[in-house]
Amino acid sequence: MVRVALMGLGTVGGGVAELLAQHQEDIARRAGEGIEVAAALVRDPAKARALNGATPRLTTDPEEILGDKSISIVVEAMGGEEPALSLLKKALRRGKHVVTANKEVVSAHGQELFEAAMIHRCHLLFEGSVGGGIPIIAPLKHCLAANEIDEVSAVINGTTNFILTEMTVRGQDFAEVLGEAQARGYAEADPSADVDGLDAARKLAILASIAFNTRVTPAQVSTAGIRSVRAADTRYATELGRVIKLVATARRENGAVRVVVAPVMLPKDHPLAAVNGPDNAVLVRGQPVGRVVFSGPGAGRGATASAVVGDIMEIVRLRNRPDKSQCTCFTSRPVVAGDGRPAPFYARVRLPDGHGALERLTAAFAARSVALASVTRKSADTSGYEFVLVTRPADEGAVRAAIADGAADIGGSVALNVFRMEDGEMGTSR
Ligand SMILES: NC(=O)c1ccc[n+]([C@@H]2O[C@H](COP(=O)([O-])OP(=O)(O)OC[C@H]3O[C@@H](n4cnc5c(N)ncnc54)[C@H](OP(=O)(O)O)[C@@H]3O)[C@@H](O)[C@H]2O)c1
Repeated sequence: MVRVALMGLGTVGGGVAELLAQHQEDIARRAGEGIEVAAALVRDPAKARALNGATPRLTTDPEEILGDKSISIVVEAMGGEEPALSLLKKALRRGKHVVTANKEVVSAHGQELFEAAMIHRCHLLFEGSVGGGIPIIAPLKHCLAANEIDEVSAVINGTTNFILTEMTVRGQDFAEVLGEAQARGYAEADPSADVDGLDAARKLAILASIAFNTRVTPAQVSTAGIRSVRAADTRYATELGRVIKLVATARRENGAVRVVVAPVMLPKDHPLAAVNGPDNAVLVRGQPVGRVVFSGPGAGRGATASAVVGDIMEIVRLRNRPDKSQCTCFTSRPVVAGDGRPAPFYARVRLPDGHGALERLTAAFAARSVALASVTRKSADTSGYEFVLVTRPADEGAVRAAIADGAADIGGSVALNVFRMEDGEMGTSR
């Protein structure tokens, strides 16, 4: 019997305890040995917990787990940077294999964790840290390992995808839908890590590090969230046959890796456009495989427990063969923030009445050599007009500079939102 300890017994840890208890016999058969939860570290042992038949011994003292030589696998499902990081390092130093779903720790401290795992001949698996129940880390590391990956693009934050989906379907504004997402448990009380794009940047850093075999950290990712998206933008996107998604993209360009998280207007037939609600999807383009899409529940008790227990079972199968190749960052490539490819851009602008404001703005685009595909007046009120401009493929910097030049000439700020427009095949913007 392999003895496992859980550090954290909330949504994910509780789901893991339940799954190991409920599917005990099948899991033992498939892993080759029985798996027993020896203890669970919690903050508050008196808290009521519905664990559907699982009865782990609770402790508030990490030493009861770290000091117990009979425990060979530690599952970290506490979340946050500390004390999770210190406990993971201690567990590895004491020769315990580790499974974690903590993208914050893996994305920022992967290197030191992998070094500790190598030195102490332990396995370190983290399938649950990206995409919840979607298998993506192991497929990238193993099944697709023969490929040269060109691009990974993904909808990997369920909270923002739920909000954008509701805004599109119901025509509601960001703040209204955020409140509902919080009430339904899809968004945290402090939603900033999700809505400002940081959570997606952490997950992208993990995926990019594996796909391109070089260390990418969240701080290197150009990150924009969805706070500025308005009901008007989702409505105009629909009119343009598009949908707004928070897209995380990592791609190879001349030996470097480009990384960006930003709201993007996708055509309705794009594989990521059909991912709705809290679901996630990851699109991988590589040679020779072509395009592969992984999709499913990006979070949740059962879905994430599925990934974590899969990792535990993998360690049970492999634990006597320490895997020296588990850290796949064996090269060092420059990491560049931003997408960098020319693309058409959508700009929603507000212009004052009179003074030739539209002519001045379009002249600013012409002066920056940015051609306009369409200019549409959307609404008017006493303070001015709202227009949507769609450019021909252009550099983002030139588009933003043109808007800034136009605003300076007109004498006030004009940009309400600027989004890149992607075509049906990420990587070949029209
Ligand atoms: N929720 C998801 O769907 C999901 C999906 C993918 C990945 N993840 C990741 O999984 C991890 C856990 O998330 P979660 O949603 O399961 O969190 P959660 O529901 O808040 O559970 C956290 C657990 O950790 C325990 N804990 C926290 N700090 C502790 C400390 N200092 N000492 C001892 N115990 C402590 C808590 O104890 P008490 O129960 O006593 O409070 C609780 O049992 C995070 O890294 C998260 O990003 C979550």
